[in-house]
Amino acid sequence: MCRRLIIGSEGQLGTELSRFLSNKYDSDSIILTDIREESKSELIYHKLDAINYKELELIVKRYDIEEIYHLAAILSAKGEENPKMTWDLNMTSLFNVLELAKNKIVKKVFWPSSISVFGNTSPKNNTNQFCVMEPDTIYGISKLSGERWCEYYNIKYGTDIRSLRFPGIISYNTLPGGGTTDYAVEIFYSYIRKENYKCFLKKDTLLPMLFIDDAIESIDKIMTVNRNKLSIKSSYNLSGFSVSPDMISNILIEKDPSFIVSFKPDFRQDIADSWPNSINDDHAKKDWGWVAKFDLDKTVNSMVKNLKIKI
Ligand code: SER
Repeated sequence: MCRRLIIGSEGQLGTELSRFLSNKYDSDSIILTDIREESKSELIYHKLDAINYKELELIVKRYDIEEIYHLAAILSAKGEENPKMTWDLNMTSLFNVLELAKNKIVKKVFWPSSISVFGNTSPKNNTNQFCVMEPDTIYGISKLSGERWCEYYNIKYGTDIRSLRFPGIISYNTLPGGGTTDYAVEIFYSYIRKENYKCFLKKDTLLPMLFIDDAIESIDKIMTVNRNKLSIKSSYNLSGFSVSPDMISNILIEKDPSFIVSFKPDFRQDIADSWPNSINDDHAKKDWGWVAKFDLDKTVNSMVKNLKIKI
């Protein structure tokens, strides 16, 4: 039985991925870890600080783990509060996982990169896989460095590391923590709770986003495709749809005219302005057949429907 380990299981991606993997495979074969004391899920869980190589290796060996999904990271906005800590956590935890793969202790790794690898000097529209990349946040710097290390390990050591550059993820079960794209989740919570929403980005800030179901499907797809098909050894551009705060709020106001959204940009505006408006994901389409299923309308409908049930 192939056992899979999720690092960062309690976060926005981790909670959904653990649910997905435990439905798809034997639930006893999915092992969860996070920095938090307890898990929300019923699956096997261990508290783990991902920068501690020894503890990580112990868990991997104890359960004979074959695949690691390394999702733990400090995101863009939170990262600016403590750049050194962000670099240490994001890079050390990645190195720990890369070393386990290089030493053949695990067979395959998934690690998410991000649109934050792009910066002010990158092209804004339909941003290509290969272009100028000068990230302006420590999160982006750690992701771009991480990508280069992933490619290095893939090519030099033949390790099987697979990666996607995620845009903002819109989800209803777990809130994102400390990103620049978080408004696109928060706004739905305010709408359902019938509260006013104060958005921290300007209303016309266009950013790439992806609905959570698509994000999980993309991870499943890239992790199950034949490795020979993966021509990108660093991290694949991935696209869902592009949206601005205005576009989401207009749809919600149309549903409920009493919903009020105001705009008060803070330091996150500069981060958002440095990122692309839209992403070209032709390589993902061509190499492993990526197609996003959720556009803006489908995403809004699903968010409203699911949050009504949840809240
Ligand atoms: N959602 C992330 C962030 O805003 C982008 O990868 O930090």
